[in-house]
Amino acid sequence: MKTINEMKLSFPSKSRNEAFARAAVAAFIAALDPTVSELSDLKTAVSEAVTNCIVHGYRRTSGTVYLTGKITEDNRVIIKIRDKGVGIADVKQAMEPLFTTAPEEERAGLGFAVMQSFCDRVRVSSKPERGTTVTLEKQIGHE
Ligand SMILES: Nc1ncnc2c1ncn2[C@@H]1O[C@H](COP(=O)(O)OP(=O)(O)OP(=O)(O)O)[C@@H](O)[C@H]1O
Ligand SMILES: [Mg+2]
Repeated sequence: MKTINEMKLSFPSKSRNEAFARAAVAAFIAALDPTVSELSDLKTAVSEAVTNCIVHGYRRTSGTVYLTGKITEDNRVIIKIRDKGVGIADVKQAMEPLFTTAPEEERAGLGFAVMQSFCDRVRVSSKPERGTTVTLEKQIGHE
């Protein structure tokens, strides 16, 4: 499907930038006139993915988080969130609800489950020591 708008952002892995990423994505999709729940679902999914880059990808270090957005002709929003951090050895296991490698930090292991329940499609590609890319797709309104 044809892309009718796109954007690119990058920012340092600081926790305050989680709010920045949410607000930027909200502004990007505003022209689609999303419902309150469509908007809050996508913002929540973006927060989870960006938080994962910060707390897991760049665990104990810092780096750059890359975010791109696309809107297609049929009102699909595609958001990619990428880090060049530690990566994930077993993506299938990482995506299981309640799986976490940071229980001591009181992580619940629910980030991917939240992304999946709030988006139509979630794809994760990752390579250990190279980083992780999460792609979120959501239809806004009708085609
Ligand atoms: N960007 C990433 N880089 C490296 N590892 C990641 C990344 N995102 C997720 N992971 C791994 O996948 C696991 C599951 O992620 P998920 O977001 O579901 O749970 P969590 O972050 O541990 O807990 P919660 O999101 O509930 O606070 C993480 O514990 C971590 O091991
Ligand atoms: Mg998480």
